[in-house]
Amino acid sequence: MADGNRQILLDRLPQGDKLGPEHFRLAEASVPSAGAGEVLLRTRYISLDAANRAWMQGATYRSALEGGQVMAGGALAEVIQSNVSHLAPGDTVFADTGWQDYAVAPGARLEKLPAANLAEGEPVTHLMSVYGVAGLTAYFGLLECGRPKAGETVVVSAAAGSVGSIVGQIAKIKGCRVVGIAGGAEKGRWLTDELGFDAAVDYKSPEFKRLLRAEVPDGVDVYFDNTGGAVFEAVLFAMKNFGRIACCGALSQYDGAPPAHGPRGIPGLIVTKRLTLRGFVVMDFDTQREAALKDLAGWVASGQLKVQEDIIDGLENTPAALIGLLNGENRGKRMVKVR
Ligand SMILES: NC(=O)c1ccc[n+]([C@@H]2O[C@H](COP(=O)([O-])OP(=O)(O)OC[C@H]3O[C@@H](n4cnc5c(N)ncnc54)[C@H](OP(=O)(O)O)[C@@H]3O)[C@@H](O)[C@H]2O)c1
Repeated sequence: MADGNRQILLDRLPQGDKLGPEHFRLAEASVPSAGAGEVLLRTRYISLDAANRAWMQGATYRSALEGGQVMAGGALAEVIQSNVSHLAPGDTVFADTGWQDYAVAPGARLEKLPAANLAEGEPVTHLMSVYGVAGLTAYFGLLECGRPKAGETVVVSAAAGSVGSIVGQIAKIKGCRVVGIAGGAEKGRWLTDELGFDAAVDYKSPEFKRLLRAEVPDGVDVYFDNTGGAVFEAVLFAMKNFGRIACCGALSQYDGAPPAHGPRGIPGLIVTKRLTLRGFVVMDFDTQREAALKDLAGWVASGQLKVQEDIIDGLENTPAALIGLLNGENRGKRMVKVR
């Protein structure tokens, strides 16, 4: 065990400004020990999520973050000491460790991640990407909320990100025509050439709305919305009657000053096009998780679902990795290998 516990503190909360390195501070603490009913965890891979930034704005599905605390975040972690019977040293768990080398957590809320979910030679990081929150969010959001049918047109925003890249591929597996929305021509080419999307549209282009309409001439049946804002508005106007929108997140609203106005067309277009909008949080589907993992693992094994991971080295680089994610640096699931 190392002698110290490096921690990244959220030194102060951004107040309507964009997240920057000045909001974080590296600190050193002693390694904690596990009390009754607790486990001591060594953090191995920290998950970088757009939601990390959303938590700084106020309460979401978890309480708001406060300045001066260890930055919150989930991680793949190894059990080092255990005072609960269902976990032993060496087990791998996904836990809310925060951005630090070591964390103590109540054991009751943790479960050992079954290595059985991994095929021979599959990296442990897949437990946090395709078999973790990203894969399950894509799976349930698309299939339970979007409910696509073969032959339908599916559009997904933040399409080259961790959730979006999996959404588009699952929609292809289900026989849909898939259009991804992402920033820049290079990401677009990756979506079509490597992941098999039918088309990609650059939302940063001044011609975005026209380019989108050209790719969905008959309209959109299912929209998986990761962004909200102007992208949401553009797709809303392109929806078909009786279309379904899975509201997964609002990336365009997390970082920096709030937008001048919300998407136009609400509620009018929802009525006239008879749209269904359904918001969801991945935990809503916990009871269906095993079946989803089985499907995901089957698609990975058959090569129908490509897993893209974007791994940054070193705990000290975690703030820059999150800032970069919010600025579109990542492809697929971004995480930090702690050491
Ligand atoms: N509901 C749930 O249970 C649940 C669970 C997990 C995640 N989520 C949501 O899923 C979404 C994706 O999160 P993630 O952590 O997987 O991040 P991610 O998609 O891997 O990365 C974020 C991407 O968003 C794009 N982006 C940034 N600002 C944008 C803007 N203003 N407009 C459009 N695109 C923008 C960037 O790519 P470009 O280069 O394309 O700009 C960036 O790479 C988020 O909304 C998150 O809150 C929801």
